[in-house]
Amino acid sequence: MKIISASDYGSMSRKAANIISAQVILFPDSVLGLATGATPSGIYRQLIDWYQKGDIDFSKTHTVNLDEYCGLPSDNRQSYHYYMHSNFFDQVNIPEENINIPNGIAGDIDSECGRYDKLIAELGGIDLQILGIGNTGHIGFNEPDESFDKTTHCVKLKEKTIEANSKFFESPDQVPKYAITVGIKAIMQAKKLLLVANGSEKAEILYRSLFGPITPSIPASILQLHPDVTVIATEDVLVQIRKNKPDAIFERVLRRD
Ligand code: F6R
Repeated sequence: MKIISASDYGSMSRKAANIISAQVILFPDSVLGLATGATPSGIYRQLIDWYQKGDIDFSKTHTVNLDEYCGLPSDNRQSYHYYMHSNFFDQVNIPEENINIPNGIAGDIDSECGRYDKLIAELGGIDLQILGIGNTGHIGFNEPDESFDKTTHCVKLKEKTIEANSKFFESPDQVPKYAITVGIKAIMQAKKLLLVANGSEKAEILYRSLFGPITPSIPASILQLHPDVTVIATEDVLVQIRKNKPDAIFERVLRRD
């Protein structure tokens, strides 16, 4: 695991965008696993900028988004379809047919989950998966659970997640209670993982995920078992971790690569 410190949000976004950009330049037909939320929006802005300057070409790239709220149509401003199109897809040249996001208004959610797993398999899996981290330790919307073995599934969001995500809605009541998420299995099968974390409020959960016991009650802790993980965290996250947990494990992990 590599842990990279970024001086601020802009720097975190540029470093992450550099890694994605290198992936697409080296392997234009890559399958990118994409995340939504507040953290990755700066990455998308940076990638759009480089695309507009002619530095990146996404015409052969495929994308697979991690999750979507149940019950929100794609034209709802809070849906992840809307987020991805307005923050990224509408401004770069990824062919529409290469873009994949779970359908949160599918009549049969179980068969939608099956369809999504099948399409990830048919694409040959994910080459580079971008991840944020929720304050429950979720990645995608894989909430604390009793096992790590879920494939794409419908999940009941934790109260803490609903509260955190209510920042995007007018009130917490409007946040959907369920979402479709790619499972831990597809995330762990991705060839490379890139996790971004911004802001000291992520310090505790990042610490527990990267340095604590591996347990499904902290879904992101499974990342410790992936062979190719890069974490880019803003300095305030890492400073906070060092302040609260000045133990040797942290230093050892930092030096591991
Ligand atoms: C959303 C996703 C989630 C978010 C997490 C953090 O697609 O994958 O795991 O990354 O909820 O969200 P922010 O970045 O808003 O703190």
